[in-house]
Amino acid sequence: MKVPLLDLKAQYASVGSAVEAAVQRVLESGYYILGEDVAAFEGEIAARLGLAHAIGVSSGSDALLVALQALGIGMDDEVITSSLSFFATAGAIARLGARPVFADIDPQTFNMDPRDALRRVTPRTRAFIPVHLFGRPADVAPLQATGLPIIEDAAQALDAARVGKLGKLTTLSFFPSKNLGAAGDAGMVVTDDPALADKIRLLRAHGSRPKYVHATIGGNFRLDTLQAAILRAKLPFLTAWNQRRRANMLRYRELLKDTPLALPDDVEGNVWHHFVVRAPNRDALRKHLAEREIETEIYYPLPLHLQPCFAHLGGQEGDLPEAELASKTVLALPIHPELSEAQLAHVAGAVEEFYQ
Ligand SMILES: Cc1ncc(COP(=O)(O)O)c(C=O)c1O
Repeated sequence: MKVPLLDLKAQYASVGSAVEAAVQRVLESGYYILGEDVAAFEGEIAARLGLAHAIGVSSGSDALLVALQALGIGMDDEVITSSLSFFATAGAIARLGARPVFADIDPQTFNMDPRDALRRVTPRTRAFIPVHLFGRPADVAPLQATGLPIIEDAAQALDAARVGKLGKLTTLSFFPSKNLGAAGDAGMVVTDDPALADKIRLLRAHGSRPKYVHATIGGNFRLDTLQAAILRAKLPFLTAWNQRRRANMLRYRELLKDTPLALPDDVEGNVWHHFVVRAPNRDALRKHLAEREIETEIYYPLPLHLQPCFAHLGGQEGDLPEAELASKTVLALPIHPELSEAQLAHVAGAVEEFYQ
């Protein structure tokens, strides 16, 4: 039995007609960049998160870039973030000439350990980027106490508890695999700050205001009308999909409780973007599962402080022991909403068989 990590074909079977109607409406309108669907989608996400402003952008990566740029972060500034994240979190900092400073993780949550982050504050620190990894809200209270701006990287955590309310700016990704995914790249920045929102709108379109007059240098970070229309068509399904993810997590906790896997806690407010376990003999287990047509993934096999492109920052093996240990022991099992009971049982059976 095949168990894919993600099943967008199965998802399409439930949303296809709504998505197709939205696509046809946009194609017939002749309006393909920004426009009414983008404005409406921005309004829907802002209202959902209880925030005043949302700015649709080209991707979650670009959302991070414009959020940092709006805060005026650039050359020689330092931004503290987690070493266990997707590359984009750190890449955005470095693309602006600033220095990513990596903090270790809390081994229980996989999120940045705020106490370790505080130890890395210097006079050059300009912001924190905590990541709500795997859909679980990060603890940011100790960071808030510093008064430094927080950008929440919520690429994996739309609808997670209080996400969007914890920082000055929050970035979202609608990459197809996310809990709410586009049919291509898309992202968003949300904030309650009107001045920052205005700046991001400006940066999104080459800093042009009025047209062909550029007071600031932005880029082409616009959200396509088609993607916004597709996301609007899928948005009504998100709550039910997240409930399915939670139900799958509960089922795994039951099915896997007697195995040697260390399972994630059942915490309130997690939207279960990934179900990440710690597994003894991880790589052999992964191979065993692959042989039984069960797809898994490692998030992430190389912590950011050890990435070759950041070698000049001097990160060494041993610097951030918890992030390094996680990269060697974690394994994400399929948790997407379209999983059947038979597929969940197949995964659990294969795990039990491996450890027998
Ligand atoms: C934590 C995190 N940050 C940033 C991104 C970047 O988003 P995108 O792929 O939309 O550029 C992603 C996802 O891909 C992510 O998981």
